[in-house]
Amino acid sequence: DIDTEIDLALFGALGDLAQRKLFPALFHLEREGLLAPDTRLLGLARQELDVDAFRSRIEKALKTYVKAEELDREALARFLARLDFLPLDFTKPEGYAAIREWRQEAARPMVVYLSVAAKIYGDICRHLEASGSLDDESRVVVEKPIGYDLASSAEINDAIGAVFPESRIYRIDHYLGKETVQNLIALRFANPLFGTQWNQNHISHVEITVAEKVGIEGRWGYFDDAGQLRDMVQNHLLQLVCLIAMDPPANLDADAIRDEKVKVLKALKPFTDDMLGRDVVRGQYIAGTIDGRSVPGYLEEEGANRASHTETFVAMKTGVANWRWAGVPFYLRTGKRMPEKLSQIVIHFRQQPHYIFDPDQRELAANKLVIRLQPEEGIALEVLTKDSGLDKGMRLRRGPLHLDFSSAFPKTRIPDAYERLLLEVMKGQQYLFVRRDEVEHAWRWCDSLIAAWEDDEVPRRYPAGSWGPVASIAMITQDGRSWYEDY
Ligand code: BG6
Repeated sequence: DIDTEIDLALFGALGDLAQRKLFPALFHLEREGLLAPDTRLLGLARQELDVDAFRSRIEKALKTYVKAEELDREALARFLARLDFLPLDFTKPEGYAAIREWRQEAARPMVVYLSVAAKIYGDICRHLEASGSLDDESRVVVEKPIGYDLASSAEINDAIGAVFPESRIYRIDHYLGKETVQNLIALRFANPLFGTQWNQNHISHVEITVAEKVGIEGRWGYFDDAGQLRDMVQNHLLQLVCLIAMDPPANLDADAIRDEKVKVLKALKPFTDDMLGRDVVRGQYIAGTIDGRSVPGYLEEEGANRASHTETFVAMKTGVANWRWAGVPFYLRTGKRMPEKLSQIVIHFRQQPHYIFDPDQRELAANKLVIRLQPEEGIALEVLTKDSGLDKGMRLRRGPLHLDFSSAFPKTRIPDAYERLLLEVMKGQQYLFVRRDEVEHAWRWCDSLIAAWEDDEVPRRYPAGSWGPVASIAMITQDGRSWYEDY
């Protein structure tokens, strides 16, 4: 890894994502010796700062977002010494020549990271090319969300594609960088036990919950245009669906994996008007209490338009219409201001074909595989055993076979998603990045839902600190099931 040296130009270097995630991730790579000695980092932002002032800003960000015991002084000095800064108005071509000069005709590949609004991706790519700052190896990294719907995402992808070929475009979905998300591939394809059971013959339904405790955190303007469907489902949840539902790829090559994911996205059941209210529930949080603290409702957040109908929660029942998954519902839910931060997938296996135990316990008698992505990463397989005790007869009892990552592998630090993703960009490996057709099929499916709910604009209210609107519970109980609660 150490010889994958690059020039990294980071647009939006003083933005929230860069400060909170990207610089801390790059710093961790430095600390682990994974940044090649000659790799250089150029920050770009509109503000007029000199290099020293920029380095102090980054040092401050690292002190805020990296744990004190991990902020090794020597690594910090080495890291800050790599940093350069250029003030730039991204939308104007003037000024881009300075990037070419900064490169000094360097032989190492250039990586351009766009941590800015997607609507200016095209301008930046064009100006970079026109200024001669790029070469045949240059790569571009772009953040989600790409567009607002299929049409706008196609426009943005066209603009990037006019400058960079697909093989050098790295579309981030940071969930793919999470160690536990990658583990889905290992879990499914390295364990014959699961490999043989992973289909509609053995699985009755799948649940995915991505709950967040945070609210809008000063991002009202951005979030209100997007809503939870575009902000979380179009990308993160659908990527999880893909990894759970895809067929085994022939190997671990980027396109082998992405081809299989695209097949899942194409097979997602489109939404129709009659599914609204029954199979889709949109919610918006009102004031409530989280961890004993009162928090305002979405419409009372700073900068809010009080008449907004944007959803901060969405639950849906969908499915993958193919041979493997016919008749297996996928229940998804995600929301802001839930009681806890929790990303979890639950695979519910079917019951035995013939049941011989206590009739009262019939509902209990099925295995569940609980995959906890965050926090407290781990995997638990719920199995049934005999309840012990002389008076219990053949009563059944549920218990987990539990793999808790932090206690099973105590010495390994789970790296942040961005560390892994930045490392893969440096190595030129694309398997953790989203291909254009994935983005587009995901939009096509979301667009079918957005079109259906146009007439049903008003979201249901739920108090902050609850698990969403009551209707989202009814959505699953109407099928005789419930959202999984124990772990
Ligand atoms: C981002 C969304 O992509 O993911 C945010 O824009 C959300 O709204 C975040 O809070 C959640 O990421 P994580 O890693 O905290 O689960």
